[in-house]
Amino acid sequence: MTPDEKKKAAALAALEYVESGWVVGVGTGSTANHFIDALARIKGKLDGAVASSNATAERLKKIGVPVLELNATGDLPLYVDGADEATRHLHLIKGGGGALTREKIVAAASRKFICIADDSKLVDTLGRFPLPLEVIPMARSYVARQLVKLGGAPALREKFTTDNGNVILDVHNLKILNPVELEEKLDHIAGVVTNGLFARRPADVLLLGSDQGVKRVT
Ligand code: 5RP
Repeated sequence: MTPDEKKKAAALAALEYVESGWVVGVGTGSTANHFIDALARIKGKLDGAVASSNATAERLKKIGVPVLELNATGDLPLYVDGADEATRHLHLIKGGGGALTREKIVAAASRKFICIADDSKLVDTLGRFPLPLEVIPMARSYVARQLVKLGGAPALREKFTTDNGNVILDVHNLKILNPVELEEKLDHIAGVVTNGLFARRPADVLLLGSDQGVKRVT
């Protein structure tokens, strides 16, 4: 199977978690897009969806799923999204698509977070994938200096602005042995809006597409 076929298989498996009359949170990226395509088959069942990015909102509207504001829905029963890296402890790196802030908000407001990915995303230690941080533009250089002090090598994501009007620093060379601690530490740097570690609120279930079928890690 190609990585894309594995992503699609994981996305289809996530459909089983969707119940009638629900409003579901929907993530961003190529795996989340497969989930949106899958939702088209059962869209009559859904009361709507909360999107984690403008791109996802557009895609949901195209298939006829009502897109609702999180402020209007209250907590959600389910959030489905991809990841750039995942561990067996269900800690994640996210933000490869730059949507990490809204993704973290929707994950925080959801009772169950299903992460869908191909099995190449499973790692023993997070950090091979550069950790994305959404940063207020005027704080870019200050934040970068603090990241260097922590042993990271930050790089500005070129020609990219988030849906919230901010920039992304991708931090290389981090070997993340304690993701919960690092997530907290990075959030305390002035000017950081969000970091791409999802450890304080990890996934609840990881569905990994593989040659042997979809593996479920809980
Ligand atoms: C977007 C994300 C995505 O979930 C992550 O980048 C994985 O993307 P893909 O499903 O395309 O591999 O965090 O901000």
